[in-house]
Amino acid sequence: MNENEFSSKDVLFMHLALELGDRGLGLTEPNPMVGAVVVKDGKVLSTGYHRKFGEVHAERSALEKINVKGTTLYVSLEPCSHTGHTPPCTDIIIEKGVSRVVIPFADPNTRVNGKGIKILEKEGIKVETGLLKEEAFFCNRHYLKYISTGRPWVTINAGVTIDGKLSDKNRNSQWVTGESLRSVSHSLRGEFSAIMVGLATVKDDDPMLTIREDGWEGKKFVRVILDSGNRLSTKMKIFNMGEEWPLYIFSGKEQKNSGKKCENHFFINSSLGGLDLNDVLCILGEKGIASILVEGGGALISSFLESRLCDEIALFTADKFLGGNNSVEIFSEGVPITDPVKLTNRSIIELDEGYIIRGMI
Ligand SMILES: NC(=O)c1ccc[n+]([C@@H]2O[C@H](COP(=O)([O-])OP(=O)(O)OC[C@H]3O[C@@H](n4cnc5c(N)ncnc54)[C@H](OP(=O)(O)O)[C@@H]3O)[C@@H](O)[C@H]2O)c1
Repeated sequence: MNENEFSSKDVLFMHLALELGDRGLGLTEPNPMVGAVVVKDGKVLSTGYHRKFGEVHAERSALEKINVKGTTLYVSLEPCSHTGHTPPCTDIIIEKGVSRVVIPFADPNTRVNGKGIKILEKEGIKVETGLLKEEAFFCNRHYLKYISTGRPWVTINAGVTIDGKLSDKNRNSQWVTGESLRSVSHSLRGEFSAIMVGLATVKDDDPMLTIREDGWEGKKFVRVILDSGNRLSTKMKIFNMGEEWPLYIFSGKEQKNSGKKCENHFFINSSLGGLDLNDVLCILGEKGIASILVEGGGALISSFLESRLCDEIALFTADKFLGGNNSVEIFSEGVPITDPVKLTNRSIIELDEGYIIRGMI
């Protein structure tokens, strides 16, 4: 159906379903974030959302609480029709006598992809698609890219000055941004399944690459280091965080016999420009990683921008200049003015000490 064929109440209830889905941010991957709203005679009877990977799906969570037939169910993604960690959602929709289901679009996951819709329609349930497609795509962009390409969604996260520097002329990057920008930037880690940095950032900063921000207690993600020459010292903090903080290292194929430094140490193609980022992303996808936050430094961010293998950028921009030819640049590689890396769907938030600029690439 066309977006404008839906009523204003349909739009309202789908917005609510999307908002509910968002509550699973950072906790459901590699599954999608899904919200569900059950409505009868214009009134919301029940709501639900997918809280965490492996836990009950949104539709079941909303429907299992009620026993009213002839309802409309608004779901932010096509209901599943297969048994995974939980039973098919189509079962409970049929069992509870729902008469109409409204969704933005079919789930591109080959295990679903229209099958859920067909099963419901066969049971005489009216299924309407096409409501708030753009908004629903945005909410589930990590999942939708991962499920249709097998590779994770890539977001770049950088603390920069207005003149695009990640450090001062002595490579000192602590701190380019002030406390409030840093706190938001660190919280962003919680939304992702993995965090990636280049070898020089580990050597210079000796980071732990964890999350300590409020609201993300218990959240864990994979830490990924690119080290072509397998030269990383095992004395660095990233090696001493315990098994709950998985570490993946990527090195060049020619280092295959030089010893694995962790269980997930991969040896892949490399060239003068570094490791093949496409290979890195394919392996991360095979490992079930649906999203990755690339935190630097300059060389790694530059490689992602130049190869256009990134999908989004979050720039925490301090209201200051640092200048200097030797400072770490965000995009030293560069591209011609005729073919710039452009931002779309931009948002800019102004804080006391600078700006958060976010956009798709
Ligand atoms: N302000 C911020 O938000 C921020 C964030 C992070 C870091 N930093 C600062 O940035 C500095 C480090 O940045 P950097 O530019 O020198 O280095 P970097 O990006 O941290 O690391 C670059 C290294 O990663 C390895 N690598 C492997 N494959 C690569 C590929 N495809 N593309 C790029 N690199 C690849 C290479 O080393 P091998 O050839 O040995 O593999 C390369 O030299 C530090 O001073 C750090 O403090 C600032």
